[in-house]
Amino acid sequence: MVDVLLGLQWGDEGKGKIVDYLAPKYDMVARFQGGPNAGHTIIVKDKKIVLHTVPSGILHPNCLNLIGNGVVLDPVIFNKEITQLRAAGVVIGDNLVISKKTQLILPTHKVLDAASEAAKGASKIGSTLKGIGPTYMDKTGRNGLRVGDILSSKFKEKYEALKQKHLALIKNYDFEFDITEQEKEWFANIEKLKEFSLVDGEYFINEKIKQGKKVLAEGAQGSMLDIDFGTYPFVTSSNTITASACTGLGIAPHHIGEVIGITKAYCTRVGSGPFPSELLDETGEQLRKQGNEFGSTTGRPRRCGWLDLVALNYAIMLNGVTQLILTKADVMNNFDEIKIATQYKVDGKISAQLPYDMMDSTVEPLYETLKGWNSDLANCTTKSSLPSAFQAYLDFVTKNTNVPFSMISTGPERSQLIVE
Ligand code: GDP
Ligand code: IMO
Ligand code: MG
Repeated sequence: MVDVLLGLQWGDEGKGKIVDYLAPKYDMVARFQGGPNAGHTIIVKDKKIVLHTVPSGILHPNCLNLIGNGVVLDPVIFNKEITQLRAAGVVIGDNLVISKKTQLILPTHKVLDAASEAAKGASKIGSTLKGIGPTYMDKTGRNGLRVGDILSSKFKEKYEALKQKHLALIKNYDFEFDITEQEKEWFANIEKLKEFSLVDGEYFINEKIKQGKKVLAEGAQGSMLDIDFGTYPFVTSSNTITASACTGLGIAPHHIGEVIGITKAYCTRVGSGPFPSELLDETGEQLRKQGNEFGSTTGRPRRCGWLDLVALNYAIMLNGVTQLILTKADVMNNFDEIKIATQYKVDGKISAQLPYDMMDSTVEPLYETLKGWNSDLANCTTKSSLPSAFQAYLDFVTKNTNVPFSMISTGPERSQLIVE
């Protein structure tokens, strides 16, 4: 059986923390999409680890970790991550396997990403500049290089051919670059990649499922960044929803069990694009400060706003969420009032649905105001010990989503979690 865990907003919902907590209950954690644009933070005692490519089950010695075919992998970033993990005492060997069908990010993919963003000027996506978009373009354009190709005697030739294609494309941009050093580093890290277990991921995972092993599929980004259903074109270049776990790992839909959706108690977004409940005032600043809302991958300040139930219900629908996990409610411990968007006014008409194009419409969120709990959630370890105003907040969300909360996270540390 495969349970899927994913972010229901614009990313950074706290997926890393929750996957790390859940991993001991599973035999395998598998990443199925995205790449080093992701930054999944795990905090154990006072040690902080940010994972970009490696699945968040890696801290648990009995948990297998699979990087699926749906992922795009930068060998330089991947090996840096491995070095950091090993330096922190994490043992990495047979517990980490990579699908041979995982796509490789080339140095020129990153140049293309940067050149494309620069050319867009004010309308740039706000990409993490990790080469994600161009790598997925090559995948669907049937030009990509895959991890399995590094074992081929023709690898250098294939690389050269793709690089030449990229150089021709880059000529269309007025963009200066020099990748001499990056290329050397890239090839050195390709050699290191050969030390890992490169597998036929789809056979590997299906064999485990047949043996009755439990798998947790770990999503990256969030549903509102999905290439089809997110706030297009201000999205990432992969499908980030449950369905993507099937294509990104090679498993049939009937294997999917629970769909665990994570939402913050408010919203954040890093990069450009529509964000109806964004707060550009002091309250937004307070959320950013108290929530330490700065990107785990790029360090950029995250835009902050109120919880948006229109967007959340859309994500619940797309993913088939069976249980919700709420994170970061503790960030609002000292708020007198908390707002939640329940509907939108789209071009003057009230609606509970996202409009086709948020950029073209005037979207005004309509809010319900709830009383703040004004107390420290860190002192609560059971659901029944939660302050009544917070219980009311939870009940309000549950009534409006029809999905129960299975966990409440009350701080960044692994143990700060209420499970019921
Ligand atoms: P991910 O991309 O979904 O894994 O999330 P990130 O790691 O990018 O961002 C989440 C941030 O919030 C990290 O710094 C976490 O340590 C932190 N975090 C996770 N859960 C909680 C929580 O319940 N409360 C607080 N205050 N911080 C949390
Ligand atoms: P995790 O897994 C938050 C955003 C970028 C940008 C847009 C496109 O940590 O939740 P890309 O580099 O993918 O071409 O950028 O998507 N983005 C994320 N925002 N969390 C992430 O991952 C993100 N991955 C990409 O900021 O707006
Ligand atoms: Mg993140």
